[in-house]
Amino acid sequence: TVLVVDFGAQYAQLIARRVREARVYSEIVPHTMPVDEMLAKKPAAIVLSGGPSSVYADGAPSVDPALFQAGVPVLGICYGFQAMARAMGGNVAETGLAEFGATELTVTDTASTLFDGQPADQSVWMSHGDAVDRAPEGFAVTATSAGAPVAAIEDNERRLYGVQYHPEVLHSKYGQQVMERFLHVGAGLRADWTMANVIDEQVDHIRETVGDKHVICGLSGGVDSAVAAALVQKAVGDKLTCVFVDHGLLRKGEAEQVERDYVAATGVSLKVVDAQERFLNALAGVTDPEEKRKIIGREFIRVFEHAAAEVVAEAGAHGEQVEFLVQGTLYPDVVESGGGTGTANIKSHHNVGGLPEDLQFKLIEPLRKLFKDEVRAVGEELGLPSEIVWRQPFPGPGLGIRIIGEVTADRLEILRDADAIARDELSKAGLDREIWQCPVVLLADVRSVGVQGDGRTYGHPVVLRPVSSEDAMTADWSRLPYDLLARISNRITNEVREINRVVLDVTSKPPGTIEWE
Ligand code: XMP
Repeated sequence: TVLVVDFGAQYAQLIARRVREARVYSEIVPHTMPVDEMLAKKPAAIVLSGGPSSVYADGAPSVDPALFQAGVPVLGICYGFQAMARAMGGNVAETGLAEFGATELTVTDTASTLFDGQPADQSVWMSHGDAVDRAPEGFAVTATSAGAPVAAIEDNERRLYGVQYHPEVLHSKYGQQVMERFLHVGAGLRADWTMANVIDEQVDHIRETVGDKHVICGLSGGVDSAVAAALVQKAVGDKLTCVFVDHGLLRKGEAEQVERDYVAATGVSLKVVDAQERFLNALAGVTDPEEKRKIIGREFIRVFEHAAAEVVAEAGAHGEQVEFLVQGTLYPDVVESGGGTGTANIKSHHNVGGLPEDLQFKLIEPLRKLFKDEVRAVGEELGLPSEIVWRQPFPGPGLGIRIIGEVTADRLEILRDADAIARDELSKAGLDREIWQCPVVLLADVRSVGVQGDGRTYGHPVVLRPVSSEDAMTADWSRLPYDLLARISNRITNEVREINRVVLDVTSKPPGTIEWE
């Protein structure tokens, strides 16, 4: 394991991902963790992340020099580099020339461990006010820039390395190479973190945990629960029962993808609950977004609990005890809940489409170590349908919060048709994997006048909401090509009779959220 020590900037997760892209397993730990605790994890190497502060700021986190005496290879990045240089006896000063953004780096030793085989002049991403102006004893200076006289250092004897810039961001052209040079050459680590290995390891682990008990899993149609369940299926086969609540709020074809294609690909035993009527009845007359969310969340839990009780009874009839519940928790959730920083409740997200908290099962979370892109890679490796593996984020309350106004069967039908066209054109244009997601929103209580053929129309608008994002916390509207937007608009207005207008949402988040409700 490579430990990525998080100094509180937004870069730690990115660093952890880059390490894994180099096929070395990484985990994030907070900088407040004592050094003995870090070392007790027997790290193969340590990367110190960037951070928001100056090493001279009040309360700025420092690094215990003991970290550098343990014989563990270390790479310090940005703030982590300065903290390391300082702890080792170098000097950090205010140079008066802060560097932010793309910066020219001059590599002074192109045969060094980090820079071997790279050009002497390269563009890197900087973000610093202070700079190291004297390297600690025993270190060679291997690169400089205008604002950072000591922009990279290394000591191959002690296997300690540092760079002032951010190799983890794509703007640093040779950044990934530097990471790999550190991991594979500096630290001598093998590239053996592959999804095939992850699958093997998880399958063994799940098998051992489950023993002769039975497991239950709720499938949502999304990639996380689908991959988690497929892993458990591979491990324990018949001892898993999946439950799929069809609340009627999914998009066109999604229920079939779960019920038919997913089952065919994995062989899971699936219990489908057709709850479409029930959800429609519960939503009848409701227009308030929070109210809708609450109703959908509540109904989902009731239906799931009922289905779970049936699974327990059926398993019991075979002498099996249902002891475990599968959850598709991902690594970023684990890191974030460990960090414990509260964010404001903008919408009542959390358990909408989620499971009750007090279910009497133990959890199996086979994706706890994985980032989203790794989950997709596991899904592909397991042969899951690509519509599911590459599904964009979709909210638990589904189309229920994409119909502005009351949710009815007719309106769902209209929205499904429009949404299917937008998705189809986006994937034909090859952009569906590039954008984060593209909600299509039906303004069901709005009508506008149009003209089609010889006749006047009085139909509804739909809104296209294509966004790009890293994590859904912030987002920007995607600049989709005009001809693609034109195709989507033409097709929707031609093929969906009730819709006579297509509009584009050009609001970033903040101030707009991604979904309209
Ligand atoms: P907003 O609209 O808050 O959405 O910008 C951020 C991301 O979360 C998704 N979303 C949800 N996901 N249950 C979920 O599992 C929900 O209730 C929910 N509401 C929004 C949304 O699609 C976007 O990706």
